[in-house]
Amino acid sequence: MKLFVDTADLQEIRTLASWGILAGVTTNPTLLARAGARDVRQHIVEICEIVQGPVSMEVVATDTEGMVREAREYASWHPNVVVKIPITEAGLAAIRILAQEGIRVNTTLIFNPVQALYAALAGATYVSPFLGRLDDIATEGMTLVREIVTMFRNDPDIHTQVLAASLRHPRHIVEAAKAGADIATAPPAVLKKALHHPLTDIGLERFLADWRRLQEGQA
Ligand code: G3P
Repeated sequence: MKLFVDTADLQEIRTLASWGILAGVTTNPTLLARAGARDVRQHIVEICEIVQGPVSMEVVATDTEGMVREAREYASWHPNVVVKIPITEAGLAAIRILAQEGIRVNTTLIFNPVQALYAALAGATYVSPFLGRLDDIATEGMTLVREIVTMFRNDPDIHTQVLAASLRHPRHIVEAAKAGADIATAPPAVLKKALHHPLTDIGLERFLADWRRLQEGQA
């Protein structure tokens, strides 16, 4: 399973990219606003220059024509831009047109498996089930990921990738991988938290202390 980071914060993206774990980035209007991206085009291009992989940029139009217009514009910014389209009636029609033009779409706000199937049939490159938001309302979000993965695997004509989104904690990363998701996108805090373990810290401290004793001839 590949890992994307779900943020528009350039510093966080630089740090995580330097660890060699990032295959892409997902953004949305909330994340761009939080990062204070005044010149959105420049901001997205900068992200594309840090991470050599798909970078999702979301449309804000709600009609098909507007979505297609925005998508064409965003896709022209950089070859790695993937356009995020919400799973609505207008969105599906837009995905169909964009897929025919070779513009990659990440279908967002997926909350049931049939929405994912529709997006795949319309030609989306990725579907993003929002598992954390389902967990938030006491529904098992990972079940949605599992069902989509199974449905897609059962149909050899579907090549759409499952991008598990809205992850809340490190365990979600493990479960998404076990469920067979192609990609998981998580906020920087979740990706960072998953790296740390108290036994790693204690173990390292002990190794360093023993090394010092050895150097001082006390071992
Ligand atoms: O990539 C989807 C993500 O931005 C939604 O996450 O944490 O707002 O539910 P969240």
